[in-house]
Amino acid sequence: MVSRTERVRAYFRNPDTYLSDNHNIASRAVLVREMLGDIRSQRILDLGCGDGTLSLQFVLQNNQVTMVDLSQAMLDRARSRTPEHLRSRVRYVYSDLLELPLEDPYDIVLCIGVLAHVGSVDQTIDKISRLLRAGGRCILQITDSSRSLTRLIHSYYSLRERLRSRVGYSLNRMTVDETLAVAARHSLRLVSVRRHALLFPGMGRLPSHWLLEYDLFVMSHPLLSRYGSSALLLLEKRH
Ligand SMILES: C[S@@+](CC[C@H](N)C(=O)[O-])C[C@H]1O[C@@H](n2cnc3c(N)ncnc32)[C@H](O)[C@@H]1O
Repeated sequence: MVSRTERVRAYFRNPDTYLSDNHNIASRAVLVREMLGDIRSQRILDLGCGDGTLSLQFVLQNNQVTMVDLSQAMLDRARSRTPEHLRSRVRYVYSDLLELPLEDPYDIVLCIGVLAHVGSVDQTIDKISRLLRAGGRCILQITDSSRSLTRLIHSYYSLRERLRSRVGYSLNRMTVDETLAVAARHSLRLVSVRRHALLFPGMGRLPSHWLLEYDLFVMSHPLLSRYGSSALLLLEKRH
């Protein structure tokens, strides 16, 4: 039988399945930057790094970045997007995140767009906590299934994906509260939440630069952003 990890690897084998016309990556890069603030000389771990957009933005400020992905093609994409003169500050690790050794703890761990795909959310959040130093911070991203609008959108998109037979496994669905409860069991306490992606069925056909402009507007609007289906949770590891 094909394992969940193999199915995930197969889905992300062609990076463009996820990367092409995906305005969410740019939106989340903005949110991650705003949530972490001005960080310098930190050790950053980007789990399920994809093309590296989220963590590459920190390399210039003298931070050391470790990018991990179980898709070699994604890692290659991340490496090719790293300017030559900055490559010494980036490590590329081809691995399932659960298999990572617990070496020197990290100051910051990013886990964006990944929890929906993992075999066990509990084991993944436990691993993230172990990889962090006490007082270190992580950002977890989920698609919050507590909102009725989100449930509607979820059903629409999962039916669409199933009809196209693209994802060979069902995505994990969770709410912010459920994720925070798991995080609390693993010594992670909430610092802040930001939301984006207030999408309605059919909007996915709009050009991605329009969707990005719209999403940037939504995420900066206090009222509208409350209804965003994608939540980024900034958490701190207890001392
Ligand atoms: C939806 S993409 C998100 C990429 C990036 N974090 C972003 O937000 O642009 C998910 C990525 O996580 C990787 N991934 C999924 N499960 C993983 C695991 N268990 N260990 C390492 N990487 C994983 C996939 O190969 C893929 O590149």
